[in-house]
Amino acid sequence: MPKRPIPMVKLPSGETVPQLGQGTWRMGESPRKRREEVEALKLGIELGMTLIDTAEMYGSGGAEEIVGEAIAGRREEIFLVSKVLPDNASRAGMIAACEWSLARLGCDFIDLYLLHWRRDIKLAETVAGFEALLREGLIRSWGVSNFDVGDMEELVALPGGDAVVTDQVLYNLQRRSIEKGLMPWAQRRNIPLMAYSPIEQGRLLRDPALNSVAARIRATPAQVALAWTLRRKDLIVIPKASSIAHVKENRAALDIELSDNDLAALDRAFPPPAGPQPLEFL
Ligand SMILES: NC(=O)c1ccc[n+]([C@@H]2O[C@H](COP(=O)([O-])OP(=O)(O)OC[C@H]3O[C@@H](n4cnc5c(N)ncnc54)[C@H](OP(=O)(O)O)[C@@H]3O)[C@@H](O)[C@H]2O)c1
Repeated sequence: MPKRPIPMVKLPSGETVPQLGQGTWRMGESPRKRREEVEALKLGIELGMTLIDTAEMYGSGGAEEIVGEAIAGRREEIFLVSKVLPDNASRAGMIAACEWSLARLGCDFIDLYLLHWRRDIKLAETVAGFEALLREGLIRSWGVSNFDVGDMEELVALPGGDAVVTDQVLYNLQRRSIEKGLMPWAQRRNIPLMAYSPIEQGRLLRDPALNSVAARIRATPAQVALAWTLRRKDLIVIPKASSIAHVKENRAALDIELSDNDLAALDRAFPPPAGPQPLEFL
């Protein structure tokens, strides 16, 4: 059993959410895996990872259905995050997209609704769409994803744009570009970031430096990669795991303390950016 409770992160609304949540990309794509995916999410909830991130895009709605099955009967324990596709992010498009998502999720409301990435529709229109959804009670808060500093500056300058509660972005040992740009920008404004692909979709796990730190502290490479992101107390981290073993392992990453020595070894293998760099995305 995990030793430490999951730390909470405060959103600008004042609400707190667990720092370690669960991702769902690639879930809901294969009927054969459905049972295992639902069980993995359920176990994650039992272990306190009650923030669940999904999107209308994942499995063309299939991931939202998996989430709906996993949270059935326990909606009040869950902080549910879903995302609208950029092409649906017009005022009318957002209402329809959100209603479809809610139907798949089997819920009345989404706790946090994100614009998945920015495309052609004007930000002001998307903000108006979020405000309409808030008024209708279909969402409780809204945010964005894959926004760099310039996009965020533009957003918060719009009427109502400063209601944004998070920016969900790519961040892991191999993808540190935000450390000198978006991250300090968000910290100054008390907007917590949400780190996606914290183990680089598994690609990080073969890295020799990561494996050597993991062997030294008797942890797994995935746990070290997660512990490294979780050391930033204002960062929400959402690994995706569809096996029981991975869920348990990831939850236990919160029990790992990386020493200065470990952090220095990881910095040598994955150097921090020298200055501000553009946001990376998948
Ligand atoms: N906003 C965006 O544009 C965006 C983009 C990407 C991702 N996301 C969100 O962020 C979530 C996480 O990112 P991600 O899914 O791209 O990548 P990730 O969480 O870095 O990696 C997921 C992969 O790692 C494996 N894994 C998980 N725990 C493991 C462990 N302890 N040991 C070994 N392998 C492990 C998973 O396998 P199993 O499934 O077999 O357990 C899966 O193949 C997504 O699911 C999604 O919700 C958002």
